[in-house]
Amino acid sequence: MQNVFPGEVFANTADFDIGIRQLLPRYDEFLEVITRCVPSTSRRILELGCGTGELTLKILKRCPNAQVIAVDYSPRMLQFAQDKITAAGYQQQWTGIQADFGDWTNNPEKFNIGSEFDGCVSSLAIHHLHDEMKLKLFEQIAASLTQDGCFWNADPTLPESPALVEVYKAAREEWAIQEGISLTEIGAKRGIISTEGYSSQDQLATLDDHLQMLTKAGFKTVAVPWKYYGLAVFGGWL
Ligand SMILES: C[S@@+](CC[C@H](N)C(=O)[O-])C[C@H]1O[C@@H](n2cnc3c(N)ncnc32)[C@H](O)[C@@H]1O
Repeated sequence: MQNVFPGEVFANTADFDIGIRQLLPRYDEFLEVITRCVPSTSRRILELGCGTGELTLKILKRCPNAQVIAVDYSPRMLQFAQDKITAAGYQQQWTGIQADFGDWTNNPEKFNIGSEFDGCVSSLAIHHLHDEMKLKLFEQIAASLTQDGCFWNADPTLPESPALVEVYKAAREEWAIQEGISLTEIGAKRGIISTEGYSSQDQLATLDDHLQMLTKAGFKTVAVPWKYYGLAVFGGWL
């Protein structure tokens, strides 16, 4: 089996776009929620862990004047994103940067990422950082936004009780079956995940802990515009 970085999920990058929709319930819906929470007038948007560019494309469709700075540490995922953005004709509005967002958090001066972003978005990436780094990242995001900027993240969250672990697992199994595949069959396409930079296997935090971290990081209004079993979109405004 192929080794992959945390977050790449599949051994073969070409499997990602179909596989993630089988693996996670309502993937397109929660990405859409993020794009709706970002002002459509945004001019500068930072995306952390852009993967193959699925969220990026939705953002660019909704925010016609936006420049998206997209960070991902995987050259494989970035290449897929770049090809997709170019094929859709958005190459003038997109800059891909190969970097670890944990490294950016601790050493922002090393990267040419800039600041004064109207919004920062992320999906399915930040949960690979341990909690201390999540808080530091939220602080770095807050420092990189304009004074009324916003941040929206979609991620799996830690079930609050053992009973909910089973409930959330059953919901995902049922979703996969509805998609015509089992979680075991999807699992066979996954790569072996080890540690890469600041990311490792899932480091889930509860939704409540995420909201507290956001408040601590300086977000005055925090919100959860979407939740489905163990998946949530959360974030807020400075
Ligand atoms: C599951 S994919 C999600 C991609 C995309 N956001 C989406 O929803 O389709 C997670 C992405 O985050 C990236 N990633 C995870 N940890 C990272 C880190 N510390 N720095 C940069 N990229 C990271 C992975 O390479 C992967 O492309």
